[in-house]
Order: sequence, then C-alpha cells, then structure tokens
Amino acid sequence: MNGSDWYRASAPGKFVILGEHAVVYGKPAIVLAVDLRMEIAVRGSRYNTINGERIDFRRQPHLRYLTRNATGGLEFQTSSQIPVGSGLGSSAALSAALALALGEMEGRRMTEHELVEEAYEAELYAQGIGSPMDASACVHGGGVAVNLPESEGRHLWTVTRGDRTWSVSDVDVPDMTFVIGNTGIKAPTGPLVSKVKRFRDRSSFAMDIIDDIEQTTLQGSQAIARGDVEELGRLMTNDHKLLSILGVSSRELNKLVNASMPYSYGAKLTGAGGGGCMVALTDRPEKVCEAIRSRGGTPYVVKTGVPGAMMHP
Ligand code: MEV
Repeated sequence: MNGSDWYRASAPGKFVILGEHAVVYGKPAIVLAVDLRMEIAVRGSRYNTINGERIDFRRQPHLRYLTRNATGGLEFQTSSQIPVGSGLGSSAALSAALALALGEMEGRRMTEHELVEEAYEAELYAQGIGSPMDASACVHGGGVAVNLPESEGRHLWTVTRGDRTWSVSDVDVPDMTFVIGNTGIKAPTGPLVSKVKRFRDRSSFAMDIIDDIEQTTLQGSQAIARGDVEELGRLMTNDHKLLSILGVSSRELNKLVNASMPYSYGAKLTGAGGGGCMVALTDRPEKVCEAIRSRGGTPYVVKTGVPGAMMHP
C-alpha cells in the first residue's frame, strides 16, 4: 500500500418493497438494490478532508465511526446519485463503500458479512437505532430478504444485537417495474424509527400494526414468488396504510401515492418515511412518472438486479 494511492469503492442505494420499521423488531422485510450509486475515494493525507473541506466529525458520524482506527489524516472524495435522507439508503451505501475502501487501504479484503457488521455499526453509531437491512442490501446488491423463513435456503448472514436477530438471505429480483417518487423532503431515519419505538413502547395497538406489517410481508413474499403483481400491489398499498397508522407517512407522500394509484397495482412509502420517497408497482411507468411530476415529485424508473459494494480501479 502507498499512502498517497486512491482507494475507490461504490455501493448501491436500495428501496424496501415491504417490511420497513417492522424489521427493526425482527420482523421480515424484502429490499432491492437500485442503480443509484454512492462512490467514495480515500487516500492518506496530512489533514482530514472531504471533497476539499476539513471534516467536521460531529456532522459526519458515519465517517467518524468508520475511521476510528485511522492513525493519520485521510482525504475523501464522494459523489452520489442517491438523494440524502430520502429512504433510499444513502447513509448505508456511504458506510458500505467506505468500510470496503478503508479495509482495502489497510490491506484487508473484507467479507460481505464483515462489511455489513461494520456498516451497520456505523448506522447505529449515527442514528442510535435500526436494523441491518439497509447495510445488507447496500453491501450485497440484488435482492435481500430479512427473517423470511422460506428464503433460508439462500442464507447470507445472521446479525445479532441484544435479543434481536436478523437472518439475511439472497432473493431473486422480481421481473417487475417499480417507479420511485421523491417528495424532495429530507427526513433522517433515526427520529422516525425512534418515533415508532415510542409508539410501540406505550401501545399494544402499535404492536398489532407491526404484526399486521409482518403478515403483509409474508404474503408479499409469496406473491413475488408467483409473479403475482396484482396481489403484491394490493399488499404494498395495504402496507402504506399500516405505515400511515404508525405515523410515518406525510401529506406529500400520500399525495404521490394517491396520484400513482390509477396507473399502478399498488404504491407505498419506502424507507423510514416522514418525507423522502414512495414506490409504485406498475406496468405503465410513463403514466406514473407523469402523475408523480404533476404533484411536485421527482420520478425515477428504477433498475434493479445491480451489484453490491465493489472496488474500482
Ligand atoms: C429504513 O430504510 C428502514 C427502517 O426500517 C429502519 C431500519 O430498518 O433500520 C425504517
């Protein structure tokens, strides 16, 4: 290794088909990596800088955690197609790519499982609460299922924290068309996950809703396996209603979901909610894009089946 060499890595963003928030409590979820990537380059330097500016580690907790063992200064360059705070996994993609690049810089080829543990720990350090779902999707790419009994045959890794366990498996990427709509409103994940936790801690009703999300995800997994877009769409819309009851939707998200519905099998918020993005399952992507645009959102026809975290020359 030469300290002045650049180490470059990238990782994809992701969207959740079903199961966000409930997955924090060990419930199942299904998530796909998308063709929006975060790229990062790192090399040794005199000072700690990112994109030419001195790093304020208080504002960069992921970076702070992941560089905890660094002995000298580090220079970072990032470029990202993933909108920040939008539910598309920008912080998990950053953590995954960074963990990979820093490992390589130290002469260590990390396994996917090691990368997930490192990226997830960075997420926990930054936001205090959450599941290893986003980190798993951004590291592995393709399709990932968490705690889905029928996917056990393609088990990738198990992550445990306290009394919670997440068994992560590889799943086939469904041959279906998804359109993402971004409200443009940034909503950091941590406070939304904490809000659901407070609701769940004081209300058995919230626990029932989380159980209903679990059932919806289990049925959705079967619908995906059958290629049943109508049933999957119905379940996604149902999931949106359940997430709304948990208090994580917003007026803007509902607007984009409702606008997409006439041209979709179903639609829902994706990720932590509060703002950020929704996703529609459709075979009329142009119509959905138009509907999202007409309500002030930014549409994006997603490509799936993309590779996970990787090094670049
Ligand atoms: C965010 O993409 C997904 C959540 O379930 C949080 C998490 O799993 O860490 C809301």
